[in-house]
Amino acid sequence: MTPIQKELPIGVFDSGIGGLSVLSVLTQEFPEEDFIYVGDSANNPVGNRPIEEIERIATTIAEFLVAQPVKLLVIACNTFSVVALDKLSKRFDVPIVGMSQGIHDALRIKVKQKRKGPLGIMATVATINSHKHMDAVHSLKPHVKVLEQCCKDLAACIEEGHLDDDLLRSCAKEYVQPLVEANVEVAILGCTHYPLVESVLRELTDDRICFVDPAWETSDAVGAILYSEDLEQSTGRIGSIQVCVTSHADRVTPIVQDIFKDTSLEAKLITL
Ligand code: DGL
Repeated sequence: MTPIQKELPIGVFDSGIGGLSVLSVLTQEFPEEDFIYVGDSANNPVGNRPIEEIERIATTIAEFLVAQPVKLLVIACNTFSVVALDKLSKRFDVPIVGMSQGIHDALRIKVKQKRKGPLGIMATVATINSHKHMDAVHSLKPHVKVLEQCCKDLAACIEEGHLDDDLLRSCAKEYVQPLVEANVEVAILGCTHYPLVESVLRELTDDRICFVDPAWETSDAVGAILYSEDLEQSTGRIGSIQVCVTSHADRVTPIVQDIFKDTSLEAKLITL
């Protein structure tokens, strides 16, 4: 295998706009890196699909990005990560980072801020059914109670562009209400779409819940690979961001411009 070149971009992907919440953290943490992002919006949502389908969709996106080529792949999607990370890591030579679970940050906040109640996990059907977050919590802290909250339609609602409206509020309310009733005071946003609407989730819960975005832990894992494999760019220039989607580029462009505060960015329509 030829050595991976540090000048190559980092590939980041999700089933839609959710992974932009991760890309936003990565561009802040690694400003000199170039990024190419793929949101497979044509296949969104993936979280309610059978495992084989989720795996197939993730593999197709990864193949596209590896062919660019990229020096590192970040799976900016919890669902793809719980279902396909192991298979993709075996299949491709480039290093692959899946979504961290945010558990270390969540447990630290719980202890430091003396926040009570069970630890909440909000995620898609496939992620919740894997119980990987809960198992990871229990392997570290067997006595911490966990409340898994499956948010079946939330990612699709966000993907359709409902980022701050009545439809989002009524959809999200159904999922955060049980957390409030169970006295949850720390909850992990276990789907990358949810941090995009964190302010609405906080409003719906009267700021009683501290929502943890696992993108920060994921970014630490990316940094660890860049530095240990000598792959980080240090050119002194600000890197580029290229956002590609498989549908609804017009809808995604203003969201991208708003997140990255850059009106020159445009989502490009691609076919995988
Ligand atoms: N953003 C994805 C995640 O983190 C899921 C969205 C979907 O269901 O497609 O799980």
